[in-house]
Amino acid sequence: MTILTHDTLTLPTPLGGTLVNRVRAVQPGELAGLPTLELGDRAAADLEMIATGAYSPLTGFLGEKDYRSVVDRMRLEDGTPWSIPITLMVTPEEARTARGTVALTHGGQPVGLIEVQEQFTPDKTHEAREVYRTDDAAHPGVAALNAAGSVYLAGPVTLFDVPRGHFPAHHRTPAEVRSVIEARGWRSTVAFQTRNPIHRAHEYLQKVALELVDGLLLHPLVGTTKGDDVPADVRVKAYEVLLEKYYPRERTLLSVYPAAMRYAGPREAILHALSRRNYGATHFIVGRDHAGVGSYYGTYDAQEIFQNFTAAELGIQILKFEHTFYCKSCSQLVSPRTCPHDATHHLVLSGTRVRELLRAGEALPAEFTRPEVAEVLREGYAR
Ligand code: ADX
Repeated sequence: MTILTHDTLTLPTPLGGTLVNRVRAVQPGELAGLPTLELGDRAAADLEMIATGAYSPLTGFLGEKDYRSVVDRMRLEDGTPWSIPITLMVTPEEARTARGTVALTHGGQPVGLIEVQEQFTPDKTHEAREVYRTDDAAHPGVAALNAAGSVYLAGPVTLFDVPRGHFPAHHRTPAEVRSVIEARGWRSTVAFQTRNPIHRAHEYLQKVALELVDGLLLHPLVGTTKGDDVPADVRVKAYEVLLEKYYPRERTLLSVYPAAMRYAGPREAILHALSRRNYGATHFIVGRDHAGVGSYYGTYDAQEIFQNFTAAELGIQILKFEHTFYCKSCSQLVSPRTCPHDATHHLVLSGTRVRELLRAGEALPAEFTRPEVAEVLREGYAR
């Protein structure tokens, strides 16, 4: 193995130039007398993403000017690419007491602070149409937007401690992921976003990418997902068993991505990519219907949307993959770019069909899911 010295490494600069760090311990007595605000899981996840620098250059929840600019032109007011408004949505009652420094709690425990500099009432229908390309309340991202409070609080945040509770072995801040990349001497790193159990198609994309770059950051999203998605602990377990047997240990890093899923398809693909740059990745995989749900987005919309930005603005290279599946005649994973056979030769299972099979306790074909993963999923569904 080639050992690289640190000066040959070029980790990408974080978006905005500096990795934001707004994590510090709570000081004795500093919360006394402050108004408090209880965060839901989504807002708590955003707080962590901002404070640890995963959402650099954001230092807090967006104010109205940035919010409007993000919704209408996918950029912060200063022109920096940013595709999804990161906002703190509260009820009018909560907004009334949220003035100045507000203590943030999650599950009743103090987790951080926000300096409330602004309060505003957005047009959520407009936000939904622009960001999610629909205002259909059946869309899980739109539903979450509608369910949250109608007033947005804006201002810089502080996080008291990184919440590593659920996956302590795999929970790393962007600075920590960057350290691992440096220590391993990877000159290029491809990040893989996922909210689904790992299937052979995912593995194929990851390994094709690994032919081109030094390291693979497996970055499953473990924040809130919609009710029928496979729970994060089952997905992470599946990754653990798979890595053990099928991945080169020194070239792979499993780390969790704490954000909630928004199902915003194309817009979320941009957020996912920019955030992975902050984690130190040089490349990012975008396959079919990235971060999509139902039939709200075209199969490759999440790839095409990147045309709105220059390569220099993005600062991370997008590896685009077409729909990948197993071909019985080729006896391997393929895509329309590599396979000459028609659909009758192909094994394609939708997420819905996979969940049906799992619920019925039936086996998943080995060409679709490795047996080790199928077993973890079966156990997960049996609980
Ligand atoms: S996502 O919501 O996180 O995008 P998922 O975990 O299914 O869902 O996908 C992770 C990544 O793999 C995304 O970039 C997605 O586009 C890609 N992907 C998933 N399945 C396939 C497939 N069969 N062919 C090509 N790309 C795929």
